[in-house]
Amino acid sequence: RSELAVELGDLELANPVMPASGCFGPELAELTPVDTLGAVVTKTVFAQSRPGNRTHRITEVPGGMLNSVGIPSRGTTVFRDSGLGGYAGLGAPVVISIGGLSAQEYWQVVDELGACEHAAVEVNVSCPNLEHGGATLDTDLDAMTHVVSGVVARSTKPVLVKLSPQLHGMAAAARAAQDAGATAVTVCNSFPAMAVNANSRASELGNGTGGLSGPSVKPLALRLVWTAAQAVDIPVVGCGGIGSADDVAEFLIAGATAVQVGTATFAQPDVMPRIIGELPALTERLGAERIADLIGTLTIRS
Ligand code: DOR
Repeated sequence: RSELAVELGDLELANPVMPASGCFGPELAELTPVDTLGAVVTKTVFAQSRPGNRTHRITEVPGGMLNSVGIPSRGTTVFRDSGLGGYAGLGAPVVISIGGLSAQEYWQVVDELGACEHAAVEVNVSCPNLEHGGATLDTDLDAMTHVVSGVVARSTKPVLVKLSPQLHGMAAAARAAQDAGATAVTVCNSFPAMAVNANSRASELGNGTGGLSGPSVKPLALRLVWTAAQAVDIPVVGCGGIGSADDVAEFLIAGATAVQVGTATFAQPDVMPRIIGELPALTERLGAERIADLIGTLTIRS
């Protein structure tokens, strides 16, 4: 067992680094030796084809970016017939991110993709950019529980649940996901936000609002990971502003078992293999034999 291996339930990953959903397209696959990644996470798939939101969909802001892509999807049939949107056969375990506008749609995605070769599913209950005005499914714990327990019942693979960055709701949401049978929770999706152009007096994004990600959210995400890790017994996958091996160590120490890299991949397509290459030396520098020994070792400064 290698010094970088981590476990999400029964799923053993060769290392803790994977892309955040939506941040790994065909272009990146060409630039990245995908088989070096702990896993690869697909863009969220809906059962039905959908166009996503109006342009402009992405804008840069100090310390990160805002997106309101709105989860365009070609639907499960095209996704399956295209080799999981191009993610299959790249040499990394595939995590299929699934979405829906109803519980039935989430379950339909699981039913229709269940026979495809994949390592896990990640249930996206936290997109800030969908039609229903920005409220995310996991702000209604009964609704989230209904969706997740149905996914768990239909899936033969580990089920991750990707949660919203709600500070005061995080412990309860993570516990609800655990009680619904989740294997792990991913903390967290992008932060509801907006950017205003004073000259045009218009929002920068065509949807008005969007989700903030990148270095500016890292301290917030660390806090949420720490809160979630204390609330549940299942693994936490950390996500939010990670762009270096030191960032990975911080998230593991705060309680994450694995991490997702999103915004950093846009400016640096090779950021994940670079981070993974630095992890053995980092593990040693921090006095650990295996990287998993860092998980949840945070102490409060005295
Ligand atoms: O920030 C996000 N953008 N999170 C999601 O879950 C979906 C995505 C989009 O397509 O809008």
